[in-house]
Amino acid sequence: MFPIDRPRRLRRTPAIREMVRETVIRPSQLVYPVFVKPGSLHRDPIRSMPGIFQWSVDTLVEHVQEVYAKGVNSFLLFGLPSAKDAVGSEAYDEKGIVQVALRQLKQALPDAVLIADLCLCEYTDHGHCGVLSDGAVDNDQTLDLLARAAVAQARAGASLVAPSDMMDGRVGRIRQALDAAGFAEVPIMAYSAKYASGFYGPFREAADNAPAFGDRRSYQMDPANRVEAIREVLLDIAEGADLVMVKPALPYLDVLREVRNAVTVPVAAYQVSGEYAMIKAAAQAGWLDERRVAEEALLAIRRAGADIILTYYAPEAAQWFG
Ligand code: PBG
Repeated sequence: MFPIDRPRRLRRTPAIREMVRETVIRPSQLVYPVFVKPGSLHRDPIRSMPGIFQWSVDTLVEHVQEVYAKGVNSFLLFGLPSAKDAVGSEAYDEKGIVQVALRQLKQALPDAVLIADLCLCEYTDHGHCGVLSDGAVDNDQTLDLLARAAVAQARAGASLVAPSDMMDGRVGRIRQALDAAGFAEVPIMAYSAKYASGFYGPFREAADNAPAFGDRRSYQMDPANRVEAIREVLLDIAEGADLVMVKPALPYLDVLREVRNAVTVPVAAYQVSGEYAMIKAAAQAGWLDERRVAEEALLAIRRAGADIILTYYAPEAAQWFG
């Protein structure tokens, strides 16, 4: 006897398939990461991330306005400073590149969600996410600098700050500093489960933040660990994180699902530079259909539990899913 169940009945037409579709993505759930550098008229291609550019503030404002018009409301800012030093001064200088860009963007697009990536690695001459003592990243000394950077970003108009450094205790210290400076309403999006990942490869070129020695394994998470991700997100929430993040996204869908089940705050996932570059490269070689694969990857990330997706595909995805 033929089975009674015929799941194909609900796959028969596009309208039926759409009616029973479980997972959807709204453009307002997408965050578009952008890179800003000093100077003017820059639109410098990043070789390993086709379609992504380093902008100067003038061109960035125009670009962000165009992307905003496509339905993307949220942007994540990374800065390439004019000078780097041992303590990452431009991260918390009022005239630092991200602070300058925030002021201009805020003026041009007062309703946009402007998220400031909060880390020292783009600003230190050694490329590590914190300051060094005895050749190692010093957790507690770094916290004060991160707190200063958060306040500078909030003062410049950041809608949210997003610490990506993976120092212990940073969320609590940043929360304290923001509250003391009168920014109790600025939320913290914590890169909580951030893995020491080879998928950040192209970002090294995009943000010029390669460590001058060693790697980030003493502060970012071991890719082999899943349970530890829950520990990290719960710690960050206890310290005051308003949103938590899993990063990278596609290779860590299991972690994403567990985090979504474990917490009651919104969960973000970051489809990182290497995830983007892999799709681009294969598409350019003619080996797969870019739109189809990118949509599938984003849907998988959403299906696994991401409420918010940070992706270099945001401008296109807003149209695909809009
Ligand atoms: C640095 C930072 C990195 C990314 C976001 N913030 C790189 C790193 O930790 O080495 C990676 C983003 C990407 O690869 O797209 N704090």
